[in-house]
Amino acid sequence: MSHVATRSPSPGSPTLHRRLGRLDLVAMGVGAIVGAGIFVTTGVAAATKAGPAIVLSFVLAGIICVLVALCYSELASMTPRSGSAYTYTRESMGEGPAFLVGWNLLLELVVAGSAVAIGWSGLFTAALKSLFGVTLPTAITAGPSAGGVINVPAVAITAVIVGILVLDVRMTAAVVKTLVVVTIGVLVLVVVIGAPHISTTHWTPFAPFGVHGIAAGAALAFFAYLGFDIVATSAEETKRPGRDLPWGIIGSVVVATVLYVAVAAVLTGVAPYRSLNNEAPVATALEALGAGWIGDVILVASVIALTKGLLMLFYGQTRLVFALCRDGMLPRGLSATSSRGAPRRLVLVLGVVGAVIAGLLPIDTVAELVNVGALFAFAAVALGVLILRYRAPDRPRSFRVPLMPLVPVLAIAGCVWLLTTLDELTWVRFAVWSAAGLAVYLIYSRRHAVTSPVPAPESQLIGARG
Ligand code: ALA
Repeated sequence: MSHVATRSPSPGSPTLHRRLGRLDLVAMGVGAIVGAGIFVTTGVAAATKAGPAIVLSFVLAGIICVLVALCYSELASMTPRSGSAYTYTRESMGEGPAFLVGWNLLLELVVAGSAVAIGWSGLFTAALKSLFGVTLPTAITAGPSAGGVINVPAVAITAVIVGILVLDVRMTAAVVKTLVVVTIGVLVLVVVIGAPHISTTHWTPFAPFGVHGIAAGAALAFFAYLGFDIVATSAEETKRPGRDLPWGIIGSVVVATVLYVAVAAVLTGVAPYRSLNNEAPVATALEALGAGWIGDVILVASVIALTKGLLMLFYGQTRLVFALCRDGMLPRGLSATSSRGAPRRLVLVLGVVGAVIAGLLPIDTVAELVNVGALFAFAAVALGVLILRYRAPDRPRSFRVPLMPLVPVLAIAGCVWLLTTLDELTWVRFAVWSAAGLAVYLIYSRRHAVTSPVPAPESQLIGARG
């Protein structure tokens, strides 16, 4: 989101400013990464998938994400244009596969927005109850499969975010960085307060669901890491993309891994893992230690953290769709910007889709759907590194993946492994989505795609910055 703030002080200026530095990119990455995953889905994953071994799930998912992040970094340093995995796949494998990757990235980002909105709703509801004693009825706080009718707070927060983007409300870099600091600060607080209360009896049995449970936990924990790819979409606004993008991408994943492993160890160490299956596991586990205020602080901070995560995901979506539109893969009219530069139509369409999903589905179903799209795109990125090293060995790369070909091969293996742990129904939904993508490609994109993609007009990029 730092890019929002890095625009020229004169709104609508047609100049694209390369102002993002290393720290901005790490902050942006952490801002996009840390959200519902650690504050909400850790509880479900520990209680129903991995038990206390969720710590190992986080380590595994973190390692796979670092491997993927290394691959992203090489491609981002070679192709510093927005569009991330879609753009790289277009270079390495051509138009058709690139469209499918872009289409699945879109699934990842839109559905991730819905998942975070559902997580936000759970935390907001818990905060209302804890701070003001107000209990909202299940009918308006959950979708049909969770015993409700529609998740109104999830729909409402999506509408607010869409409103912020459509009205082109400006964020300053300072605001974004403050939100990131609040998020990291509260997680550090959880570790500092919780660590002395860890009782190893909670860690026995450590892996009640076996190795399969650890893998299934990793597939869900993987959701918590998503967002680092958004750093790569800001390539066109980075001062020295070749040098700084790898820092931003890898740095933010490493920071998230350290935080997640520490928080997961504390959570499973201070409370029985089965008790963590609720909408605000971090807050309830810490509150149970006896300090009521800490639960409230965590609730408020996590609502803030998820709001920031939602904004980042929406920006990521608009960036990606801009790249697809600029290459003619989707109708250009979709990315038309308002006089102040906001891609209103696009934000509205994506917002409505996100709100419908958020209003009706439970978070674990949605998180799995996010993962399938992301894992597919990530495997394509790793494959792209292998292909381009073979096809274009001499092209300048200011960042090179070490230990070739081990890193991309392991990244692909890791993604495929996590894919195999996902639910059958998730696969069916993925197949339906991909088939729809193929139809769009064959009917529309193939005829309209430009043969040599050009960089986005600068005014559009400024539009994408909201
Ligand atoms: N990684 C993001 C989150 O956990 C999607 O909210």
